[in-house]
Amino acid sequence: MLSFDDDFTAAPAAPKTLPPTPDTIRAQVTGGILSREPVHDLDAEQQALDNGFRRVRVEDKRVINGQADVNQLVPFKYRWAWDKYLAGCANHWMPQEINMQRDIELWKNPRGLTDDERLIVKRNLGFFVTADSLAANNIVLGTYRHISAPECRQYLLRQAFEEAIHTHAYQYIVESLGLDEAEIFNAYHEVKAIRDKDEFLLPFIETLTDPNFKTGTMEADQELLKSLIVFSCIMEGLFFYVGFVQILAMGRQNKMTGASEQYQYILRDESMHCNFGIDLVNTIKMENPQLWTSEFRDEIRTLMKKGVDLEYAYAEDTMPRGVLGLNATMFKEYLRFIANRRCQQIGIDPLFDKADNPFPWMAEMIDLKKEKNFFETRVTEYQTGGALSWD
Ligand SMILES: [Fe+2]
Ligand SMILES: [Fe+2]
Repeated sequence: MLSFDDDFTAAPAAPKTLPPTPDTIRAQVTGGILSREPVHDLDAEQQALDNGFRRVRVEDKRVINGQADVNQLVPFKYRWAWDKYLAGCANHWMPQEINMQRDIELWKNPRGLTDDERLIVKRNLGFFVTADSLAANNIVLGTYRHISAPECRQYLLRQAFEEAIHTHAYQYIVESLGLDEAEIFNAYHEVKAIRDKDEFLLPFIETLTDPNFKTGTMEADQELLKSLIVFSCIMEGLFFYVGFVQILAMGRQNKMTGASEQYQYILRDESMHCNFGIDLVNTIKMENPQLWTSEFRDEIRTLMKKGVDLEYAYAEDTMPRGVLGLNATMFKEYLRFIANRRCQQIGIDPLFDKADNPFPWMAEMIDLKKEKNFFETRVTEYQTGGALSWD
């Protein structure tokens, strides 16, 4: 079983073929024409040097403000980012793989769910249908261009696609259940507890997506670091968790099992996004220790506390009464537990004196193997790619 202390990087799959020999590698780059000439052409390298080019060296690479060519993935410096990229690919899934039939029947049955349970589903989707688009836009239009390590950019490309899959999954649930799309997709304007969370996030996203924002000064680099912490530790690392617990608690009670399985895959992806963000933050800190001032740390603590308050307000709004064996007070403890954990992960003292995890079963939910069909909802006929036809 995994715990919050674990890195959610999946174990690499066993190689299906024999490792390549130097000759097969050379064949791959020379189009199959093997040559006994040395691959390393010193004359060409000297010529390039004379023209002002220098080959990428590991020591020149930096996560921010790097001068090395961002188009060259190797030589690797940030192996942790590459490993997460590989794990993300190994965990690939698509929403249509999951059978929603039982959910549809339950939702359409007037006695299938209580009003409080229906509110939870609608509020959840209301938050998540736009939250993951926000996350994708933040990566593609903001974070990506300020990160100068190609291994980290490679992971961000994978993460952006995963955010698209998550938006697809939420839309797929909305469509399957026949919900009012306008109500769900406008919830971030119309439901206060959701709007407040998004309004808290927007300034940090706008910092990175502002075309005039550039790193390279103490002030700008702190702004970037702050935005990265807000995004990974508060948005992906805190704001998603009330919603995840609620829907997964339903699945554990054999309700909305298709939606629960979708959320389980999303939770696994988000755990890795959060861990990647934390590794990114800690590497930037290590490479730029001057950014980590006591004033800056105080500011992060204040933001984290605000995040806990906003997510708790969301818990209260979605659960006006106890439901599914859950109540808002349990989430107060849970959010404090997660906030302490996030602080510890980036090297900040815990915010709350005592906070235990009231939902230890969440660790089991994160420990999801692709081949394991937890809620037994798999669509067996699903096809991951269309066959080409030349007719
Ligand atoms: Fe997501
Ligand atoms: Fe994410």
